[in-house]
Amino acid sequence: MSNGTKTIGILTSGGDCPGLNAAIRGVTKAANKCGITVIGINNGYRGLIEGDVTPIKTRDVYEILTKGGTILGTSREKPFKRPKGADKDAPLEKVLKIKENYQRFGFECIIVLGGNGSHKTSAKLQEEGINVIGLPKTIDNDIYGTDITFGFHTAVDIATDAIDRIHSTAQSHDRVMIVEVMGHKVGWMTLYSGVAGAADAILLPEIPYSINSIVKHINKRKEAGRSYSVIAVAEGAKSIEEKDLKNKQIKKRREKNGYPTVGYALASQLDGKIDQEVRVSVLGYQQRGGAPSPYDRILSTEFGTAAVDLINAKDYGKIVVRENGIITSKPLSEIAGKLKTVPSDLPLIDHARKIDICFGD
Ligand code: F6P
Repeated sequence: MSNGTKTIGILTSGGDCPGLNAAIRGVTKAANKCGITVIGINNGYRGLIEGDVTPIKTRDVYEILTKGGTILGTSREKPFKRPKGADKDAPLEKVLKIKENYQRFGFECIIVLGGNGSHKTSAKLQEEGINVIGLPKTIDNDIYGTDITFGFHTAVDIATDAIDRIHSTAQSHDRVMIVEVMGHKVGWMTLYSGVAGAADAILLPEIPYSINSIVKHINKRKEAGRSYSVIAVAEGAKSIEEKDLKNKQIKKRREKNGYPTVGYALASQLDGKIDQEVRVSVLGYQQRGGAPSPYDRILSTEFGTAAVDLINAKDYGKIVVRENGIITSKPLSEIAGKLKTVPSDLPLIDHARKIDICFGD
């Protein structure tokens, strides 16, 4: 498919998020402007394995800046994962296919828009001799080495709006409302939307909660004349009793007791310990959908064009990041497999505690 000019592939991998199309637009426009041909790879790494591609030109990205999701489609394909029971020394068929297609399409490099899992794969592909440049996307904001990922800002806006709205019912009915925010492993979204949405308690995977501490907080508010409370809980939050268990074990335990998610488990733990009725609202996938915020549109555009700068400099095996406000890049090998969790000494947590937000500890 190469016509003599430099050709790059671009794919989106892992969960979708707002800003993916804005980044695809940034890459395509900047690349075409300097004569680079862009080939879209459909459905993440799966498209690279299957050779499922669609060339993209500047005219194809004209109206996608504000569009949610990804025009390329995505998947959680893990080409380095061996099927259960497979021979450990057998060649990795999917990786071989990727190498074959990389040659076949004449790629100089592949731009991967992905989260933690996807960049673990990117780093391994780079080691295998495939040039990769990563862009950090995820609503979870948990990619190590970057201050922020695109998608996070929009998702925080959506979750904050939901917490704002839920306050109406909490106040009208004198209820305790539990709002479950996405984030299996980290609590960035819950922390930010919880503080912005004036949640009374914020429960994060990083800070195991004690039910007694939450009950005490709710009752203290009631004594002070606030007979409602709003709790923002991350989907990966754990109680003190669960803190040493693996996520899978916790999920199994909850399912056995009839609680599909942490929000429902928490509601049952509060039942009988407080006077108010408790209700649960799981925000779910709406946090990942719809138009990116202006902030994310700008960030995605900056990340996308910075990726093209790296291609022009032949500086491969890097992920574009923002560090201390500056757009720069880091080796994929430096960030792969690491998670950016919420540190317990984060200044925002301290500020939140000063205005009486309970973290359940
Ligand atoms: O990584 C983004 C995220 O939305 C997490 O917050 C959530 O735990 C997970 O993806 C859900 O994944 P899936 O789309 O596979 O259900």
